[in-house]
Amino acid sequence: MADLTTAIGGFHFDNTVMNGAGVWCYDERELTAVDTSAAATFVTKTATLDPRAGNPNPRMAATELGSINSMGLPNKGLDYYLDIVAQFHAKNPDKPYFLSTTGLKPEEFTPLFQKIAASNFSGLVELNLSCPNVVGKPQIAYDFDAVDRILTEVTAIYHGALGVKLPPYFDLVHFHNIADVLNKFDLTFVNTINSAGNGLVIKDETAAIAPKGGLGGIGGGYIKPMALANVRVLRQLLKPSISIIGTGGVQTGRDVFELILCGADMVGVATQLGKEGPKVFERLSTELSAIMDAKGYRQLSDFRGQLRVPA
Ligand code: DOR
Repeated sequence: MADLTTAIGGFHFDNTVMNGAGVWCYDERELTAVDTSAAATFVTKTATLDPRAGNPNPRMAATELGSINSMGLPNKGLDYYLDIVAQFHAKNPDKPYFLSTTGLKPEEFTPLFQKIAASNFSGLVELNLSCPNVVGKPQIAYDFDAVDRILTEVTAIYHGALGVKLPPYFDLVHFHNIADVLNKFDLTFVNTINSAGNGLVIKDETAAIAPKGGLGGIGGGYIKPMALANVRVLRQLLKPSISIIGTGGVQTGRDVFELILCGADMVGVATQLGKEGPKVFERLSTELSAIMDAKGYRQLSDFRGQLRVPA
């Protein structure tokens, strides 16, 4: 078995695959299943200040190529996730965990981060700036000034390890815009990409999901090329102290390998985790290890960021 250990900031992980926020991370039962799997660690469901029921059903559908969802951030509230992560941390003091969170309006970011700062949370906070599914709200990270304002506010309050979850960008100007903002801050990581917002899946002349007239975030195989490009370009534009979690379209160890080849330090799995359950992490690790063995790579740093482009 090749060495699959990795690091993000000063945090060390014994594997390089984990869940993507939203899948298998809603409550203690799901988090325990990921925690006891081969995954490096878990990230919680994105926590809001208050618990939320989310959007009406049907709000998620799996397709042959991936998934569509408009969950609408159903979650048990920040207090629940702070408490549950503290319990996992007490059992595994050396294992770093991720807490995902977001504000639903501009005034919520300060109280959210005051609460996290006042708790004994010592892991990594993933600030979700890319949820496409809250009715009437845009994906924050497409508004570069808003990202700047929020990070200015949050970093004045919170001094622990902080990263942001980004939506896919499709234009090189936008890659430069977001990198210029993120490079101003002392971030530990970015996670790229969230689902591709506002897609539409049709079954039997009917939209597959109900919220937002059928529009929802697209995940799985459909978005892998976007995930690879976003990891690759952000790795080139972000300062080296910002690690990258690559998420999007992972179905096989080959997909994990390619995200690392583009520069990912850790790889998130969401749609495929939903389809296969937490045993997916063992399979992906075995497949990645076999690819590395066949190529003579002993550790991830032997090929991380080493994508070749034809001359
Ligand atoms: O696709 C997504 N669905 N991305 C998010 O950030 C949140 C989630 C939801 O709850 O709608």
